Amino acid sequence: MRQRTFAMLKPDAVKRRLTGKILSRFEERGIKIIAAKTLMISEELAKTHYGEHSEKPFFNDLVSYITSGPVFAMVLESDDVIAQVRKMVGATNPKEADVGTIRGDYAIDLGRNVIHASDSEESAVREIGLFFDESEFCDYELPDEDIIYE
Ligand code: RTP
Ligand code: MG
Repeated sequence: MRQRTFAMLKPDAVKRRLTGKILSRFEERGIKIIAAKTLMISEELAKTHYGEHSEKPFFNDLVSYITSGPVFAMVLESDDVIAQVRKMVGATNPKEADVGTIRGDYAIDLGRNVIHASDSEESAVREIGLFFDESEFCDYELPDEDIIYE
């Protein structure tokens, strides 16, 4: 089923110039980038985005980290893309993430784990809406879709 998800490269990834490498992984798999932008997140947006963690002891560090530098936010589209991107991202703690996943290949520290991705259909809809306006989506056909999809 064709689906959209939200993913965001965290400040460590942008500052380490990993944006291109990580985008290539999505592109090479046939996942379409519908919208993307570099931005600085406000404290308010960070608190809303990570609202589910507001009672956790790491919440303040998480908010101050995610607002500490540029992020690269994107909307991705493909079949079953929410679960597939989470698989490509890997376990939350990079030390437990499989080699071959983004976190397993590019990160070592739980608090500097390179990328965020929506974990459910509900959070995908919510997070896409927090970061993007409908007018920012670009819906286009890839010329090789008939090769990638059955
Ligand atoms: P994310 O939301 O960033 O995609 O990460 P996730 O779903 O894999 O993990 P989540 O449980 O939502 O945690 C959000 C971020 O908070 C940091 N964290 N720190 N110190 C800790 O125990 C702890 N636990 C989580 C991580 O940076 C995680 O990505
Ligand atoms: Mg999460």
